[in-house]
Amino acid sequence: MKYTVYFLLTILLFISCKKTPEKALSTYTPLRGNITQKAMVVSAREEASKIGTEIMKKGGNAFDAMVATEMALAVAYPFAGSLGGGGFMVYRKADGETGALDYREKAPLAATKDMYLDENGEVVSEKSQVGALAIGVPGTIAGIFAVHKKFGTLPIEEILTPVVALANRGFVITEKQKLRFDHFKDLFIEVNKDTILFANSFNTGDTLKNKQLAITLERIIKNGASEFYTGETGKKLVNRVQEYGGIITMEDLAKYEAKWREPVRFTYNDLSIISMSPPSSGGVCLAQIMKMIEPYDLSKYGHNQTKTIQVITEAERRAYADRSFYLGDPDFTKIPIDTLIGEPYLQERMADFSFEKATLSSAINCGMIPGYESDETTHYSIVDQFGNAISVTITLNGAYGSKLYAPEIGTFLNNEMDDFSAKPGVPNMFGLIGAEANAIAPEKRMLSSMTPTIVEKEGKFWMSVGTPGGSTIITSVLQTILNVKEFGMTMQDAVNAPRFHHQWLPDVVVFEPNLFDTAILDSLRQKGYKIDEETSKIIGKVDGILVLPDGTLEGGADRRGDDTAVGF
Ligand code: GLY
Repeated sequence: MKYTVYFLLTILLFISCKKTPEKALSTYTPLRGNITQKAMVVSAREEASKIGTEIMKKGGNAFDAMVATEMALAVAYPFAGSLGGGGFMVYRKADGETGALDYREKAPLAATKDMYLDENGEVVSEKSQVGALAIGVPGTIAGIFAVHKKFGTLPIEEILTPVVALANRGFVITEKQKLRFDHFKDLFIEVNKDTILFANSFNTGDTLKNKQLAITLERIIKNGASEFYTGETGKKLVNRVQEYGGIITMEDLAKYEAKWREPVRFTYNDLSIISMSPPSSGGVCLAQIMKMIEPYDLSKYGHNQTKTIQVITEAERRAYADRSFYLGDPDFTKIPIDTLIGEPYLQERMADFSFEKATLSSAINCGMIPGYESDETTHYSIVDQFGNAISVTITLNGAYGSKLYAPEIGTFLNNEMDDFSAKPGVPNMFGLIGAEANAIAPEKRMLSSMTPTIVEKEGKFWMSVGTPGGSTIITSVLQTILNVKEFGMTMQDAVNAPRFHHQWLPDVVVFEPNLFDTAILDSLRQKGYKIDEETSKIIGKVDGILVLPDGTLEGGADRRGDDTAVGF
């Protein structure tokens, strides 16, 4: 309960950081994002976008830049960037080859299905959310080294040395970061039973140096991924976790592997979309929603108009119901992906939709109820001068993960175990509930919503896009693609535009407040939709890159954060 309050406060804090646009979209002047000729990185921090860009300027490719950007986010964006989390990457090489990397966290070997239940079988949610028992075996370092091994062109030392320099010279604390550090200070001290680097009192504009992280990165440069999984850094991690009551062992670290996966691929009119496969629900749900809405003429209905909102909402309702039942770690759960994203099934799924009246979620029969994830994730997109494109979403799960900090490494550790269903039918920290396919098992990967996505148009790379936002990730990526494709927006306008979200249960449509036409909201109410403008002041924080007709790149860096597009 206590931590549910923390979560709500976090959301409020996130909200208070946002600058409300002064104009509604109807009077919004179209805005182009940063435009570059050849290469670009869009991420949550300018420092990370710059370091990734510099690597490409030195002749590195998008994959080299990925390694640098991811580690720079671990330095400058500890809210979601770390060495102690995990993520997913979808790529499209210049020659058209596509693929995906899964470096999602895993349950430790000693994890059990009921590990978060008390003697009465009730979920003790704090245990999966805060502190050492909430931590999944981290995948980040295995992920960046897998990318480097397969596609890297520059030596690791050349790629990571600028990141070491950033950690040593420090990054400038933004207003949004200061508010978050202040907010979490007491919890950092409580969980760590001591102060930590990030529990100091900061002012906006202060410089924060993370010397310990610089030292860890130097060891990783020298020893590679094994430094983290079998070396000194791994031992420091395991000692810290076990000292605080966690169950991760050296064997867990040694057994961790990032996995190359086949991405989900589907078409939407003349677009070909490549997105993340399970253990993320992102690609499957995105495919289901887009295939369900494809027969409808959204551009005729208009952006954020009643009929458009209805069609998208009804498709989301049906896709999220399926997510709850069918999706989990593909190494543990058989998932009928081809059927789920196939046209016959999806046509049948939308057969009872009517513009006259909202479908009730209680009428969508799926038997199980989904688990959802937090919004403290981050996304970055990269395109290089060779024509390679990547889309990467990474997470610690909650803000600063479990809040357990590893001072001798210089990083926070995730609380990704909360993305499992602790018990079918019982809400997680976000008031949402989960299903059997996503039950805890040793070495299993917890279900995610992260949706790093690449879009091709007429066989060529067209867009790289993704976002944080927990269960709203999928619907935010969807709306951003539609904003460009159906409503002709620039990339910047597409990421800035007001968003809405439906996830089957609870049966409400969540809108970013005061940005939608009240007459449209009233017309939706009359058709039976429950409108919620209170729960979430912002939905997603999308970053993307779009190829313009003249071949230049436009960055879309979401106004909702400190996100920045940099390139050349
Ligand atoms: N923890 C957020 C996600 O994986 O979707």
